Order: sequence, then structure tokens, then C-alpha cells
Amino acid sequence: MGMKLPFMKSKGMLGLDIGSSSIKVVEISSGSKGMELLKLGVAPLPPDAIVQGDFLNVSAIVDGIREAVSMSGTSLKDVATSVSGHSVIVKRINLPKMSREELEESLAWEAEQYIPFDVSEVNLDFQILGYGDAGETEETMDILLVAVKKELIGNYTAAIVEAGLNPCIVEVAGFSVENSFEANYDPEPNEAVALVNVGSQVVNINVVINGSPAFTRDIATGGSQYTEEIQKSLSIGYEEAERMKKGDGASGTSSQDVIPQEVEQAMRGVTDVLVGEIMRSLDFFSATSEESQIKRIMLSGGSAKVIGFQSAFQERTNIPVEIMDPLARVTPSKYFDSEYLSEVGPSLGVGVGLALRKADF
Ligand SMILES: Nc1ncnc2c1ncn2[C@@H]1O[C@H](COP(=O)(O)OP(=O)(O)OP(=O)(O)O)[C@@H](O)[C@H]1O
Ligand SMILES: [Mg+2]
Repeated sequence: MGMKLPFMKSKGMLGLDIGSSSIKVVEISSGSKGMELLKLGVAPLPPDAIVQGDFLNVSAIVDGIREAVSMSGTSLKDVATSVSGHSVIVKRINLPKMSREELEESLAWEAEQYIPFDVSEVNLDFQILGYGDAGETEETMDILLVAVKKELIGNYTAAIVEAGLNPCIVEVAGFSVENSFEANYDPEPNEAVALVNVGSQVVNINVVINGSPAFTRDIATGGSQYTEEIQKSLSIGYEEAERMKKGDGASGTSSQDVIPQEVEQAMRGVTDVLVGEIMRSLDFFSATSEESQIKRIMLSGGSAKVIGFQSAFQERTNIPVEIMDPLARVTPSKYFDSEYLSEVGPSLGVGVGLALRKADF
């Protein structure tokens, strides 16, 4: 499900994930032989290019897209991309039963009360999840309502066009993660699985049951919190703090013994806060859902690799936490270094889901 855009469509769709720390480009072919990873490109972004979803440095973003595309070697031009953050609203709503046409006509009016923006400022989309509710006298329907600020979509499409590509699909990042989860795993019927994508500035949460989103929410936090905390506690720059966070060691520091311990402590503190924030959302789902409780948590995003994060998360929730492999069933064509693939793998949850979208969805 996503926003249809008035651009030319063809069959091959390039997955383009414009993350705040890096841009990922993914091309996958899916045919009788299964899914094959054809192209992959990742280009880092400076930390101030995208802040809180705002495109602060458009030329750096456009350059990043171009760089990721050229690194991948893809010749596809049609792009599926995703948006997330506070300008994206996803809500499950219950309405009196009506036809699809009637719903299309009354959507803006119905949506008004569920979104914190004026309906004229957003693009609206919906999916009918099901009909009727046991115990209801009136016939009803369950709708998944999606509202995305036009301004946000405008920023994305403008940057993509400037980089020489055709934006065809813009969807919600949590749904892209769901798409790659469903392509690579076989969840049990009626099993609630929490997909948690921990990026740099955003955490995308999507609880899915039977192939439908039951609860979707983005939290404005992520792995950049570690970097900032390390920068503050050691008075060092971004690049060095990033390296330390990833356990790549410190360059040019005098006291090698003291610093890792300080870093470790700072990181543990951030993990506690981050896990707490994610827990609050999962608890909210559990408290308000009449459906199944969460049985499994699939962790993705670059920050899933933070040392101790997965185990701390599992300890707090008491639910098994696995690191999702978006390429579990995607066979790499022979050109890819397997070490590199397992290194970037967790951060491809969104990009792989996008690459698997078809133009005529
Ligand atoms: N080995 C590692 N250990 C710790 N953190 C890591 C590691 N590898 C990557 N990260 C962190 O993961 C984050 C990037 O993840 P990802 O690519 O999923 O984010 P993004 O899509 O660019 O950002 P967002 O979606 O939040 O805008 C960065 O904060 C990066 O420092
Ligand atoms: Mg991301």
C-alpha cells in the first residue's frame, strides 16, 4: 500500500531508502528462480543533511542518491521509496460498512478527526482490512488509514527527480519492513510479530498479524543517540564517536583503557532509554489490542547491531528478539562479498521491501 504518483511506470522497481545516516539502493529480480539480489549501493549522508525528517541539505541528499545509484550500477529509473516520522500518520479505524467508491468519496471527511493536520495538507490512502465485528449490531469495516504530509512527499519526489530518477511509489517505511519480513519469513497464523527497525533518527514499529499491520508507529529516536552521547561524554567529533560506537576503536586517543569503559557505560544508558521508549509503544499495543499478544520481535536497522541492544531488549520484554535478515531468501548474484552483505544486511529492511514492490500494485 502506498501513494500512487503520476509518473511513468514500468516493471522493474528500484528500492530507494533515503535514511538519515545513509542512502540505500536495492535492485532485486523475482521470478521462477526466486528472488535474486542484482544491485546494491549504500552512500553515507552527513549527519545534518536530514534532521527530524527535514531535508536540511538537499544537495547532499541528491548527491547521496546519485552516489548510491552509481555504486550499485543499476540502470533502473523507476523508484519506490518510503517516508517515516511525525509527518506520517497510520491509524486503524472502524467505519460503518460502505462501498470502496463511497469510502473514496468520504475519506477526507472521515480522516479529519483522526489526523492532527488539515486534510488539505496531506495525501490520503486507505486499505480495507476486513468487515464486521463480532457483537456489533451495525455492519462495520476496518480501515487502515494513511496520511502523509504533502510537503514531505514533495521533498522526497523533488530530490529523486533531481537525481535523475522517477518516483513511482511512496509508502510508509514500516510497511516496507513488513514487506521484506513477509518475503523472507513464514509467520504462524494469528501470531503477532513486532517488527522494530532501529535506524539513526527514527524507530519504525509495525506489529503485524496475518499479513496486516495491527499497529504502526514511528518514534523520533535511534542510533544517533549513542553517537551524541559518546561525543558529549568524551568531547570528540562525530566520525570518531561513530567508530567507537561500532567498536572500531579510537584513533588518536591516549588512554585506550579508560575510554572504552566510558563508552560502554554511555552506551548502556542509551540502550536503557531506547528500549524503554520502544517498550512503551509495544505496551500500548498490548493494552489496547483485542488481538493476540506479541510472540516474536524482529529487529532490523543499522542500530540492531549495537552491542548489547538485542539482549537488553529481550531481557526487558521477555519476548524472543531476533535480528531480521532481509536477504534470508534473496540469493545474491555472484558479485557480492558475503562479509559485506552480512555487515549491511540488517539495515536493508526498508530497501529490500521497497525493491520487491511492483509498479502496478
Ligand atoms: N556495527 C554497528 N554498531 C552500532 N551501530 C551501528 C553499526 N552499524 C551501523 N550502526 C548505526 O546504525 C544507524 C544506521 O542505521 P540505518 O541505516 O538503519 O539508519 P538510516 O536508515 O540511515 O536512518 P533513519 O531511518 O533513522 O533515518 C547509524 O546510527 C549507525 O551508526
Ligand atoms: Mg532507515
